[in-house]
Amino acid sequence: MAAQVAVITGASSGIGEATARALAADGRRVALLARRLDRIERLAEELGDGAVAIEADVTNRDSIVAAAGRVKDALGGADVLVNNAGVMLLGPFSSEQRADYERMIETNLLGAITTTAVFLEQLRDGGGDVVNVSSVAGRTARPGNAVYAATKWGIGGWSEALRQELQPEIRVIVIEPGAVATELTEHITHEGTKKQVQEWVGEIAIPPQDIAEVIAFALARPRRVSLNEILIRPTAQAR
Ligand SMILES: NC(=O)c1ccc[n+]([C@@H]2O[C@H](COP(=O)([O-])OP(=O)(O)OC[C@H]3O[C@@H](n4cnc5c(N)ncnc54)[C@H](OP(=O)(O)O)[C@@H]3O)[C@@H](O)[C@H]2O)c1
Repeated sequence: MAAQVAVITGASSGIGEATARALAADGRRVALLARRLDRIERLAEELGDGAVAIEADVTNRDSIVAAAGRVKDALGGADVLVNNAGVMLLGPFSSEQRADYERMIETNLLGAITTTAVFLEQLRDGGGDVVNVSSVAGRTARPGNAVYAATKWGIGGWSEALRQELQPEIRVIVIEPGAVATELTEHITHEGTKKQVQEWVGEIAIPPQDIAEVIAFALARPRRVSLNEILIRPTAQAR
């Protein structure tokens, strides 16, 4: 059987990069999507055989359509789509954060929806998998994470309906990490929140490989088994 092809958005750092490594180690060919081309090109070179770096912005449908064309031409089509690209721009709810809210909704929620819609035809070909990277914030809202939680809550509702529409042909798997040591907090624009969150995450976070291994495990289950939702928190994070 030909090696399966996995498309990973946000493969230039953190959980996406670790997932690309884990899926490549499992023998999959990987398409690495992100805006920072230099990072994904370096990773593709390191992973070697069958790894392709494709510059893509999930907030721009044309860019995703072009990426899907490249995946089809270079790798024959996608069997697995990991919707991982995301931003977490936390802070107290206020109209000053409007640009952050738009970015989070367009990247985390609309980006995943657009990317899935564009790749759906390829995924249908022979049965595939969609992995949606949500968050513990898709289950538990807290002061300061209202809009981020809304995007992840949105991923939950969308994934639930999608599963009922697409299974058994395509499995829909939701991954809900707790604190993970990545670049995610570096982009927070509200300085007070950034400091607080970085201190908290620094104390308890687990490495992105821990999440990547779970994604690889879920994908490696026999087709008769679908791990619908997986909540993975550091042991040091009880809530
Ligand atoms: N770290 C955590 O504690 C944690 C916890 C729960 C859930 N998550 C979720 O895990 C996912 C990955 O985050 P991470 O923690 O690994 O953070 P990260 O290291 O900052 O990675 C985020 C990735 O998303 C990509 N990205 C951002 N905007 C994009 C866009 N418009 N188009 C394409 N790619 C875009 C970035 O690539 P470029 O900048 O190169 O485009 C980067 O590769 C996110 O959905 C996040 O919400 C993380």
